[in-house]
Amino acid sequence: MASASAALLLLSAAIAAFCFLSPAAAAAAAQGCASQNLGSNRVFAACSDLPQLSSSIHWTYDRAAAALSIAFVAPPATAEGWVAWAINPTETGMVGSQALVAFRQADGKMGVKTYNITGYALKESKIAFETSDLAADYAGGVMKIFGTLKLGKEMTVVNEVWQVGGSVTNGVPDKHAFVAENLGSKGQLDLVRGVSSGSGGSVTKERNIHGVLNAVSWGILLPIGAIFARYLKTFKSADPAWFYLHLSCQLTGYTVGVAGWATGLNLGSKSKGVQYTTHRNIGITLFSLATLQVFALFLRPSKDHKIRFYWNIYHHLVGYTVIVLGVINVFKGLTILSPDQKWTTAYITVISILGGIALLLEALTWIIVLRRKTHNSTKPYGGSNSTNGHRDVQQPLSV
Ligand SMILES: *[C@@H]1O[C@H](CO)[C@@H](O)[C@H](O)[C@H]1NC(C)=O
Repeated sequence: MASASAALLLLSAAIAAFCFLSPAAAAAAAQGCASQNLGSNRVFAACSDLPQLSSSIHWTYDRAAAALSIAFVAPPATAEGWVAWAINPTETGMVGSQALVAFRQADGKMGVKTYNITGYALKESKIAFETSDLAADYAGGVMKIFGTLKLGKEMTVVNEVWQVGGSVTNGVPDKHAFVAENLGSKGQLDLVRGVSSGSGGSVTKERNIHGVLNAVSWGILLPIGAIFARYLKTFKSADPAWFYLHLSCQLTGYTVGVAGWATGLNLGSKSKGVQYTTHRNIGITLFSLATLQVFALFLRPSKDHKIRFYWNIYHHLVGYTVIVLGVINVFKGLTILSPDQKWTTAYITVISILGGIALLLEALTWIIVLRRKTHNSTKPYGGSNSTNGHRDVQQPLSV
């Protein structure tokens, strides 16, 4: 029994860590023009989320001086990698690019080098544009390139190329990967009108944010919160910790979920032609039930009040309905959004792991409760167990 309890507590701790880290992960995944704070002295007039490599380009174009100040932000392929942003004055691809490349320099500090790209063998060189204020930084998993380029007078629409790589050898960035994302990372940037033609546009970005917020909240946090309530309760030592874990997980989930729900409403109002009726209706039902659940918390009768029994039934019924509908709606949303297969796979993996953990904990709980029961029926002092308001062994799973 001791080992079963230890396993159960260990699993709970792991889930707790996940529960409180996942909102941070969601925030990181939602990164882009909307969320990047580059610091008070780094303010740009325009920004465009680039369609490949999770990157974005911020810029200010001083037309009179033909000076372009940029901040390019992208996660490198590895922490020892590099990120690059370039203007190609002659063509649309890599060859001919006048590139700014950021990576950790020999002195251990982040820095930017310039390259006139002629092929995969890079050699540091001057580029076609005069550069100033070059700087780089690496924090929070993203590398940033800052700099100002003096462009030709009529260059208001430029071909841009960007890239990330995983390693640097002897101060020279190595080749990048050759998958679709790395090969498609090019487009046109209209410095004056502020649009980037290669970019996925703001609706795509909003849909992705909607997807991440809702998958994390309804699809992951709420099930985790339920796992806390159902399985941690078995331990008297976990009282009232389970309650606070459950409460904070569900409240975090609800808050993030409402934000996600609001982005959904906004998307719905923009999508006049196409209606995703089922997804929408499930979403509205979810929001209503979850809101009811939050308010019912304040109407919760005390533990020994006789209607508490009915409140519990209500609470579990609505709670489990929200979780089932939430997971169903995440899958509906994934079908609509049809993101890269890796996102669907990731969600299926997470939800399967949670399901597996729940099954395992269910089994452990039964073992513990049944043992407690035999223990109690053979020991004369067993009866004292249920006097202090803890779960009665006769109803082991009245969660
Ligand atoms: C970049 O390289 C090409 C090909 O070698 C050369 O023609 C061009 O002048 C170079 N540009 C600069 C700015 O050095």
